[in-house]
Amino acid sequence: MTKAKHVAIIMDGNGRWAKKRHLPRAMGHKKGVEAVRKVVRAAKDLGLEALTLYAFSTENWRRSEEEIGALMGLMKAFIIADLDEFAANNVRLRIIGDYKAFPADLVKLIEGALERTAGNVGTTLAVALNYGSQDEIARAATKAAGKGPITPETIAAELDTAGMPPLDLLIRTSGEVRLSNFLLWQAAYAEMLFVDTLWPDFTPEHLAQALEQFVDRERRYGGR
Ligand code: FPP
Repeated sequence: MTKAKHVAIIMDGNGRWAKKRHLPRAMGHKKGVEAVRKVVRAAKDLGLEALTLYAFSTENWRRSEEEIGALMGLMKAFIIADLDEFAANNVRLRIIGDYKAFPADLVKLIEGALERTAGNVGTTLAVALNYGSQDEIARAATKAAGKGPITPETIAAELDTAGMPPLDLLIRTSGEVRLSNFLLWQAAYAEMLFVDTLWPDFTPEHLAQALEQFVDRERRYGGR
């Protein structure tokens, strides 16, 4: 039986959660951050080595200025409020994607948090910010090409996730069944789990259940 080491989540459904309650979309994202907080704690308690969360895609810039502003504000508040807990709980923060395109104050907060948690060896929390998988692969291939012959290994070594354990399980909430340019390379052998729960309603119990299902599935890695 294999235990999942690295789980990634496409946190979808914040807008629908808010709409169902006649609330602004930003309220769905706010509730979504509460779910993030609980799930990060659970990831640590469940012994995951890495949890990767899709927080902001390269496509999300197409959303309204108001919604983008709300998301940035929530990310800032999240780092400010939760950094001490990460530091105390041996959680290492990592960012995948080109976060330097974000406002300078958020970039500064992110870099402070990266530095402060760099020595932590418990669970790695990788947050995907301004992330797109095709963009990541293109950047990695460019770097690999500058260093000699290109192979899957030389590309993997240049991906934003380099050094993280292989992705075991990819979860998407809210009933949508697509990858939306998330971890396309890393998902090559990952199990996929699509759940109907909207992200703000996703709980540590849902994560624990997903991990149990993962253990129950037979993994063949393309062999027999
Ligand atoms: C998808 O829901 C969710 C997002 C685009 C943003 C996810 C961000 C958070 C949960 C908060 C910030 C994260 C951190 C790590 C602090 P949607 O708006 O596309 O929902 P919809 O499909 O129902 O409209």
